[in-house]
Amino acid sequence: MNDHVQDDRTIGPVLALDGVTKEFVDGQVVSKVLRGITLALEPAELVALIGRSGSGKSTLLNIIGLLDAPTRGTVRIGGVDTTHLDDAGRTTLRNRTLGFVFQSHHLITALTAEENVRVPLAIARGWMSEKDKPRARALLEAVGLGAKVDAPIRTLSGGEQQRVAVARALVNEPRLVLADEPTGNLDTEAADQVFALFRRAHRERSMTFLIVTHDRGLAARCDRIVEIVDGALVSGERTDHAESRG
Ligand SMILES: Nc1ncnc2c1ncn2[C@@H]1O[C@H](COP(=O)(O)OP(=O)(O)OP(=O)(O)O)[C@@H](O)[C@H]1O
Ligand SMILES: [Mg+2]
Repeated sequence: MNDHVQDDRTIGPVLALDGVTKEFVDGQVVSKVLRGITLALEPAELVALIGRSGSGKSTLLNIIGLLDAPTRGTVRIGGVDTTHLDDAGRTTLRNRTLGFVFQSHHLITALTAEENVRVPLAIARGWMSEKDKPRARALLEAVGLGAKVDAPIRTLSGGEQQRVAVARALVNEPRLVLADEPTGNLDTEAADQVFALFRRAHRERSMTFLIVTHDRGLAARCDRIVEIVDGALVSGERTDHAESRG
């Protein structure tokens, strides 16, 4: 089993999906949500994933994030075929390579905003360290939460929690960030701050982003737009930003 992770950020696709199919079975009823999705994300691509409500965007993100298995097809992350990884292998790959912004944020309500952002660093190291505080604080400031750094999560609004989740997903500088509606609950200013943070991570750290959004305006600011239609991927709509990213 090949479970080592390539560290080179410049060679080969960060993500390669081949014929990914997902069927949910409920008694006699089989619903085919994804019908053979093939997609490659190159290093430092910022890609929007769009599609109607119920089209399978979260299902696909969960499969890419190794939280759910495809019915058929393969998911390769950083050159690693994830098909035969065991739980430990999946967890290692996820912690080393992926950042995830969930549609429901999955924050730890007993911790403050800043402590939540530090969690992935603590997981990577094995313990929570005060040394990570400035970095967590800087990310929260970048998404407009400078005044809420020490606030308990339960006291934050939905949009504030969403921005904490964004900061948490970026703190490790993962190679691939999967973001499910990261600006869904945000006003224009907060959405712009989140998108600017993604762009900066993408430009300065060559991070790759797959961003689910219903916001056509936001999608148009990505390098490329892919759309799920009837379980298949309609791909390739390149935006003006693709050439200018240099
Ligand atoms: N665990 C499950 N069991 C059965 N059906 C499921 C399951 N998860 C998702 N589905 C179905 O798969 C379809 C796609 O769901 P999914 O959550 O991926 O859609 P989505 O594109 O993310 O929608 P939205 O934009 O509303 O978030 C839906 O019809 C949903 O009912
Ligand atoms: Mg969804």
